[in-house]
Amino acid sequence: MRLSLPSAILGLVLGSILGNPAMAAPDKMQAVEVAPDGTLSVQTRPVPKPGAGEALIRVRAAGVNPVDWKIASRRVGLVPGTDVAGTIDAVGEGVSGFAVGDAVLGFARTSGSYAEFAVVPVNSLAKKSRMLSFEQAAGVPIVGETAYRALHEAGRIKSGQTVLIHGAAGGVGSAAVQIAKAAGARVIGTASPNNHEFLESLGADQVIDYRSQRFEDVVRNVDLVLNTVDSQTATRSLKVLREGGTLVSVAGAPDAAGCAAAKIHCTRPNRDTGPSNADVLARLMELADAGKFSVNVDEAFSMADAVKAWQKSRAGHTRGKLIIKVNAGPTMKHQ
Ligand SMILES: NC(=O)c1ccc[n+]([C@@H]2O[C@H](COP(=O)([O-])OP(=O)(O)OC[C@H]3O[C@@H](n4cnc5c(N)ncnc54)[C@H](OP(=O)(O)O)[C@@H]3O)[C@@H](O)[C@H]2O)c1
Repeated sequence: MRLSLPSAILGLVLGSILGNPAMAAPDKMQAVEVAPDGTLSVQTRPVPKPGAGEALIRVRAAGVNPVDWKIASRRVGLVPGTDVAGTIDAVGEGVSGFAVGDAVLGFARTSGSYAEFAVVPVNSLAKKSRMLSFEQAAGVPIVGETAYRALHEAGRIKSGQTVLIHGAAGGVGSAAVQIAKAAGARVIGTASPNNHEFLESLGADQVIDYRSQRFEDVVRNVDLVLNTVDSQTATRSLKVLREGGTLVSVAGAPDAAGCAAAKIHCTRPNRDTGPSNADVLARLMELADAGKFSVNVDEAFSMADAVKAWQKSRAGHTRGKLIIKVNAGPTMKHQ
């Protein structure tokens, strides 16, 4: 059907109101930038362009991870953030399996995710489960992938095993509790008392208040430990594992001689082997579809308040995930 000029203009106006997925991205966007003093401010920047094998995402939410502020000093002038959820605005050459308008989540390693638009390689991209909001989906990539690789790849988790998860209320920990339960394990988690009900709601079978109890005094013969706290916690965990058990640490290594003496396999997730990030995210979205995996959004911040999100993340007591809400133009008609 041919459109007259006025109806074409009307179409564009309606498209911008209703959220036409095919609408082209603008040239400029608002994005959070790291200043030399380590603070954050919202700046106008060019919209990044997707290269071959990449997609341009119209960002709805970005996830906050400790690694964002840990590497901030090396990112002066750049946009922080890796975790992203939004809709596909454009795809680069050679991209198949994804289309403009798809609701997705992924790792924005090329451009930074605290921005209205971000570029994600399709080998780090997956379609979002309808069971998760964009804010929840933005809290999945780094922690979900880390927990999945830690338990399934490094930890070789098996149904019926007992798994101890340190820092179980945090981003990695809360993802790990759910992934371990879905794998059929018995899950013990350490957390502050105010997070015990939360851990039980995720399916934890036993919770330990690390502030009032030494976990070594209450746990024995564990098959697998996932440590997300620090290297001392990793080393102390050698005592609770059965001989031949596995200790996976993503937050500091345990004492290597202690691992050998106790006959414990001490390891960490290896990203050079196993499934791609896209495959891991797709598996997590299958778990979400099945009602076995979700994300607790502890607090959502605007881009202008990103520095407050970092202050809260640095405090080290996040329950689930901290999120940056982003509003790039009209609302898209996707879940
Ligand atoms: N190597 C990797 O691949 C990788 C990937 C992702 C993250 N990491 C690292 O893993 C660590 C955790 O990341 P995250 O994103 O999960 O952090 P997070 O969301 O900030 O969570 C930290 C959690 O630790 C808990 N916690 C603090 N001290 C504790 C203790 N002594 N015992 C038990 N729980 C304690 C807190 O809960 P309470 O309020 O209950 O204390 C909080 O929920 C960070 O150091 C991060 O850099 C590594």
